[in-house]
Amino acid sequence: MKTSSSSQALFPTSSTLCTPYLLLVPLGLLAAVVVLPSLGSSHVRSNGLGVLCPGLDTDGYPVASGAEKTVSAESPEQPEFRLLVGVLTTPKRYERRGIVRLAYALQPPAPAYAQVDVRFVFCGVDDPVDAALVALEAARHGDVLVLNCTENMNDGKTHEYFSSVPRTFADASYDYVMKTDDDTYLRVAAMAEELRPKPRDDVYLGYGFAVGDDPMQFMHGMGYVVSWDVASWVSTNEDILRYNDTHGPEDLLFGKWLNIGKRGQNRYDLKPRMYDLNWNRDNFRPDTVAVHMIKDNRRWADTFRYFNVTAGIKPSNLYHLP
Ligand SMILES: *[C@@H]1O[C@H](CO)[C@@H](O)[C@H](O)[C@H]1NC(C)=O
Ligand SMILES: *[C@@H]1O[C@H](CO)[C@@H](O)[C@H](O)[C@H]1NC(C)=O
Ligand SMILES: *[C@@H]1O[C@H](CO)[C@@H](O)[C@H](O)[C@H]1NC(C)=O
Repeated sequence: MKTSSSSQALFPTSSTLCTPYLLLVPLGLLAAVVVLPSLGSSHVRSNGLGVLCPGLDTDGYPVASGAEKTVSAESPEQPEFRLLVGVLTTPKRYERRGIVRLAYALQPPAPAYAQVDVRFVFCGVDDPVDAALVALEAARHGDVLVLNCTENMNDGKTHEYFSSVPRTFADASYDYVMKTDDDTYLRVAAMAEELRPKPRDDVYLGYGFAVGDDPMQFMHGMGYVVSWDVASWVSTNEDILRYNDTHGPEDLLFGKWLNIGKRGQNRYDLKPRMYDLNWNRDNFRPDTVAVHMIKDNRRWADTFRYFNVTAGIKPSNLYHLP
């Protein structure tokens, strides 16, 4: 998905700009279709421009800020940091994914100092129908990342994600890697603002979950960020696999690995700017970084309404949307 069109800063010198970055395991149709256009789409920058792969960059999302998709002549500034956001989901959740994709596309872009790429993260797409349909999404939106695992909650997907990313993006590393969910509304600009003054190393940031007298023993699965070095450490740490420590409550385990390994010591708890939406759907806050538990369309509608996402819809003879 994309909220602006720039990809230039992403892979500034590469001559392989139109080559596959995102797929770990091309499968079946995915192998044929997904790979090509999967580049460069989704980052959320304010100074959009630079179509890298002409003809492939077909995404037509408007940008929430009303910013034009313009081609700028000046060379884009390097961002201060780059963040990869992985939205863990499963192939069949097409409707939800459509909503979440719009949620990212129609929010104010990240500030120019941050480059934010959003990807939908799947384990293997085995069903041939899903493979075809997910391939279409990848072709159209370029925001699909397929891991080498079988789809199964609490069975190592988080580990696979954090350990695959450093390999997959080895040539164009990020400063931060985030894991989030398809029932979380992440406000990218607010997250960027939080990250900007933080260290770029040894970071573990999210909604801290207290255990005993440790206020942040692990970060809640609604969304957390680690710095690249922490993701790299997870990806190369054989003890995690040796001790079969990838099965179970994944976000709690993630904290456990880091605690044992003494990693992610720069910990930040973003409560109350990250929170669960309550039963009455009335605890939104204007300074939200992420709100979680948006588990049905009514909750998504409330979220869009609260954050004024639908406020700027232009009047038209073609629709009347109260
Ligand atoms: C995928 O996982 C299998 C089984 O763990 C492994 O043999 C294979 O090398 C992996 N492939 C990639 C591309 O990582
Ligand atoms: C790892 O844990 C899973 C789930 O608890 C279990 O099914 C599997 O047998 C374990 N494997 C090893 C090698 O202990
Ligand atoms: C939405 O718009 C209203 C009216 O302009 C404003 O008062 C409110 O603060 C906005 N909400 C958010 C979350 O920005």
